[in-house]
Amino acid sequence: MSKVKVHEKIFRPMIKYSEISAAIDSVADSLNRDFKDYDEPPTLLCVLNGAMPFTCELMRRLEFDVVLSSIKATSYSGTDSTGVVNLMYCGDINSLRDKTVIICEDIVDTGTTTRRMKEELLRYGAKDVRICTMLLKPQQFKNTLIKQGLAPEGCTDEQASKMYPEYVGLHIGDEFIVGFGLDYNELGRQYKDIYVLDE
Ligand code: IMP
Ligand code: MG
Repeated sequence: MSKVKVHEKIFRPMIKYSEISAAIDSVADSLNRDFKDYDEPPTLLCVLNGAMPFTCELMRRLEFDVVLSSIKATSYSGTDSTGVVNLMYCGDINSLRDKTVIICEDIVDTGTTTRRMKEELLRYGAKDVRICTMLLKPQQFKNTLIKQGLAPEGCTDEQASKMYPEYVGLHIGDEFIVGFGLDYNELGRQYKDIYVLDE
């Protein structure tokens, strides 16, 4: 694996596909355990565009029926989260009434996108909404909980972990990455491995 250039920025190798694949295996194991005897196929909601590769690979490992659906979310501009999340459900959102929804994300950073999405889906009558993410930035997630008053000042990592998404593949630091669906200004999604900004 060598460095890659995306727009004007250089990224260095960080997570190999074999490690990503093992993380997806473990997320799939947890979902298979939790949904094996579920009464109704849950909706697997792919967050476009970043979660496409993750959702495809995850779905192939599932041993229960799912209904596949997608939602478009945008919050990032360049390498920073804007904090404002735009959501566009692909289809009739009312069809999620009384359904169990598994949100499939590439990465949870501040957690703002998935929190907003969960609120919105519950508002439209979803019965249960769970969050499944390939990657989590725990430090950034915790700092944002504190900043938004959702956790007390001085909240420990252990306390914050109770509010983590239900299904997480890998934890990473507060670094900007591309590859396996993740982009820098819409480029870099096609890489099989994950690369980190080389500063
Ligand atoms: P959050 O709302 O801050 O949790 O951000 C979630 C969204 O921001 C993800 O769905 C990604 O699309 C994007 N994002 C967060 N961190 C990165 C990164 O390191 N690289 C590329 N996109 C990212
Ligand atoms: Mg995304």
